[in-house]
Amino acid sequence: MSQGVPFTDLTAMTREIRPAVDRAWSDLLDSSRFVGGRAVEEFEHAWASYCGVAEAIGVANGTDALQLTLMALGIGAGDEVIVPANTFIASAEAVVLAGAVPRFADVSPDTLLLTPADLEAAITARTAAVIVVHLYGQMPDMEALQDAADRAGIVLIEDAAQAHGAAWRGRRAGSMGRAGCFSFYPAKNLGAFGDAGAVVTADTKLADQIRSLRDHGRTASSRYEHELVGTNSRLDALQAFVLTAKLSRLDAWTEARRSIAARYRAAFGDGPARLVVEQPGSLGAYHLAVAMVPDRDRVQQQLTAAGIETHIHYPVPCHRQDPYRHFATGPLPVAERTAGEVLSLPMFPHMSDDQVALVCETMRDALGTREPCLG
Ligand SMILES: Cc1ncc(COP(=O)(O)O)c(C=O)c1O
Repeated sequence: MSQGVPFTDLTAMTREIRPAVDRAWSDLLDSSRFVGGRAVEEFEHAWASYCGVAEAIGVANGTDALQLTLMALGIGAGDEVIVPANTFIASAEAVVLAGAVPRFADVSPDTLLLTPADLEAAITARTAAVIVVHLYGQMPDMEALQDAADRAGIVLIEDAAQAHGAAWRGRRAGSMGRAGCFSFYPAKNLGAFGDAGAVVTADTKLADQIRSLRDHGRTASSRYEHELVGTNSRLDALQAFVLTAKLSRLDAWTEARRSIAARYRAAFGDGPARLVVEQPGSLGAYHLAVAMVPDRDRVQQQLTAAGIETHIHYPVPCHRQDPYRHFATGPLPVAERTAGEVLSLPMFPHMSDDQVALVCETMRDALGTREPCLG
């Protein structure tokens, strides 16, 4: 039995792609094309095709992906954008940075994701868009959410920052809304060697706008003509090489994550601790393995004492965070209650059988439901 279990471990992933990255790095030093260029175009092409959409635009990070999408859609001052209260803060932050107002919605007690009913309850006359977040790598019922968005005449944007390779009824995360926004922060399922992000979309005009916005609002035809007030959110060539190399491994890594999640679920995930529900139709990418755990803080302490690193995603819902409190329009009971119950367990593709077994056994001990972990 190995001693202790880290929350994640990127070194084995790096090892797998290191020869390809070493070669690419050497070519890059020879070419000196450090930002944008062919490496970025090749990754964009590969990522668009993986997601099943026409266009991918590499940007500097996932927050920019969301902000530039909102800006390109003309969403800003006077508009409200619905955001689930249970998400990483960047989903809401991008709305504020775009000049719009986040309107927080509650989430399902089973999936901790936005539902059509939660979406409908948050719609007002000012709503311009909804950001559906595929939190933890799980996708909600996308057809039902799209129907609700269509009925209200609002745009659906996917925040797929945690959901590379996840799917809903065979369609990949990012490909179902007007645009899908990704982060490639190093710890993500597809992670760069620094910050990176992308937007994917079937809408060529939207893609062109985002391409211009990421590069100081430049026109496609001239380096010194600017059609928009943009920003600098370009993708580095090195990150593009790393992402292209890792992309060939992504499905295998997702499979490994899914089988770890299945072992967790079989060992302790159906009560009294419950792993967040993966709905029929959803193929989860398990960026995080999140359980709702009674007496969470005690269980977390017991895991820590056994050398198992855990985290909480997220201990404070967005509408209770200081800079966002004034956007809150009332209590959101599910998000508020589950913030005190969620516990993220170790999850990374190269977790050993012994490491998974240690988490299973320690969880069962902590929950008082001891039985051997399935192998
Ligand atoms: C759900 C979600 N949205 C947006 C982001 C923002 O991505 P980045 O950190 O690359 O700006 C993240 C990343 O942490 C995220 O998890």
